[in-house]
Amino acid sequence: MFKAKTYKNSAELANLSGVPIYMSDMVDASLRGRLNTFLQGNTGSGKTQLVRDVMQYFGDKSLFILGRNDMDTRELFQQVNPEFLKALKEQRDISGMRFKELTDKVNYHFIAVDELPNCVPAVRAQLFNLFDGFIEIDGKAYPIGSGYSVGMATGNIGQQFTESSNELGRALKDRMHLIIDTDYYRPQPIDTLDMLEADRNPRVNFGEKHEDKTKEIIESHKNLRKREISDEKYILANYLIHGLDYLPDEFGGSKTALKSGWPNKLEGHALGSDEALILPVSPRAAKSIITLSQALDSIVEEKGAEPDHFNSMMTAFKFASAYSGILNQAIVMQNYDENPYKAMDAVIETTKTQFKQQEDKIIAGLDMAGRGKKSERLLNEFQGRWGFMRNILESLADRQKR
Ligand SMILES: Nc1ncnc2c1ncn2[C@@H]1O[C@H](COP(=O)(O)OP(=O)(O)O)[C@@H](O)[C@H]1O
Ligand SMILES: [Mg+2]
Repeated sequence: MFKAKTYKNSAELANLSGVPIYMSDMVDASLRGRLNTFLQGNTGSGKTQLVRDVMQYFGDKSLFILGRNDMDTRELFQQVNPEFLKALKEQRDISGMRFKELTDKVNYHFIAVDELPNCVPAVRAQLFNLFDGFIEIDGKAYPIGSGYSVGMATGNIGQQFTESSNELGRALKDRMHLIIDTDYYRPQPIDTLDMLEADRNPRVNFGEKHEDKTKEIIESHKNLRKREISDEKYILANYLIHGLDYLPDEFGGSKTALKSGWPNKLEGHALGSDEALILPVSPRAAKSIITLSQALDSIVEEKGAEPDHFNSMMTAFKFASAYSGILNQAIVMQNYDENPYKAMDAVIETTKTQFKQQEDKIIAGLDMAGRGKKSERLLNEFQGRWGFMRNILESLADRQKR
């Protein structure tokens, strides 16, 4: 559906069922899935260009904001709807009704924020709200974009990025569903050759007109939500939430429960390869991962291949989680050349081995639970980081009996 017109990048972010997934495809997936994306990367690598390319698809239903540190929320509101400032000036007795009138008129489906890190926290918070489809005035949320809105932001924050402690880092992790560091997926030599041949103007090109595809994008988002989700994906998502939380008993059984003791209280051979490397994903992140994986599957299908649920889940996990603050930064530094995607690859490798070992038992377990049965022998097969399956299977079996 989406294909960047001016922006060029043939670096492969993933390969699914033989279909290479490029930046353009990942952006396409984020639009279908309605997932907010943050593009991190070096200056001049085409981030703004990519965002501009996306804007072309939304015709006049997109809003472009250039992040500046001297912009306050008033100015932001004014950019969203010029009548806002007037309304805010009339002030005081302005009722929610008037704001509702104004926000109802706001009909943006795509919000682009260039250089987001330049924005002050208050403005950033409002921008994230816009991404999620509403404006907050005096603590009240007014919806915009009639049902579909999505955001894309850019910025180069380099090292700061990994410091989960700073406010910006935390805000990004909390509010952006997908963070892509283009420094690790740089345009290839052939891309820069094509780019230079196409045009020597160093400014971002937003002259190329594109047909308004807003309707098509919203439609494919709706279709994606109807797309069936396999048992395999639900189980994998639960593995990421519960299986990755597992620790041997001597460490209390749970990374989450260890709180700030993770990872420093861990030591010794009892630990598996990823027990000190990664925290479990949050239930919220698991939603993004399934959604992104569904979107990737639909893209793979459109390109004529059979979707591979396991691999699309792992690709989604990789790009939703590399910068989400769940990796142990010290180990990423020491063992993975500071590259969080490499660390994610290692976790994915372990997950693959784990899943292959359990696959038959999982299928047998789901079949058993579907018949309302609980075989102790089969349930006992789920130990350690797969212990979570017991609770799922027992509960599913009980529901069958009711
Ligand atoms: N990968 C790319 N594909 C096409 N054009 C690019 C690419 N990278 C950079 N450019 C061009 O280089 C210039 C700077 O790109 P820009 O999008 O402003 O970079 P950034 O926002 O990452 O700093 C623009 O003219 C843009 O069109
Ligand atoms: Mg830029």
